[in-house]
Amino acid sequence: MTTFRIAPSILSADFARLGEEVKNVVAAGADIIHFDVMDNHYVPNLTIGPLVCQAIRPHVEVPIDVHLMVKPVDRIIPDFAKAGANIITFHPEASDHIDRSLQLIRDHGCKAGLVFNPATPLSYLEHVMDKVDMILIMSVNPGFGGQSFIPQALKKIAEARRLIDESGRDILLEVDGGIKIDNIAAAAKAGADTFVAGSAIFGQPDYKAVIDAMRTQLAT
Ligand code: DX5
Ligand code: ZN
Repeated sequence: MTTFRIAPSILSADFARLGEEVKNVVAAGADIIHFDVMDNHYVPNLTIGPLVCQAIRPHVEVPIDVHLMVKPVDRIIPDFAKAGANIITFHPEASDHIDRSLQLIRDHGCKAGLVFNPATPLSYLEHVMDKVDMILIMSVNPGFGGQSFIPQALKKIAEARRLIDESGRDILLEVDGGIKIDNIAAAAKAGADTFVAGSAIFGQPDYKAVIDAMRTQLAT
């Protein structure tokens, strides 16, 4: 049976009370904290870096999943590993040497992953599948929370699931962007096992109610 993981994106949390927010969302049932890093260069928005990762680390025991939307990629990897990241993913277009970046993440003791924008082909995986621990399919164009789910992502999730099954490796398949209570089951049916949700969770007062409702959908 598939283990489903809910990964709230703190992009939509109250940054003035971030320690409390991550504690509350874990108490509400979050399995992973999704940490969106934007650089106002690779994507047109600017968010948080290793110092903030380090600051929230003592507040939660669940894995911190760092989604790098930055270019260049490599020089920030060691800083996030030191700041307590458990998973680090990046966009292949943002790295000059994809294999090297994946290896660098693993050498720093973290799980490594590639992120696919809506128009980015999965063929980037072909020669690096053995170095990938997570595949992240974007169901919006990266840069902002609160966007609508792009339905074409479902086909890509299914393709990624097939590649993972063929590889025989233990690779998480995460979906990110516009995930809500009413579309999470479709993403799971396509093959995703890890679900990022920002505005759907932090936009409601009762985080547990949303996470419970998502799990109910996943159980159907
Ligand atoms: C978008 C980010 C997402 C975002 C998701 O670039 O990678 O993680 O925070 O937010 P929602 O769930 O609101 O689409
Ligand atoms: Zn993200």
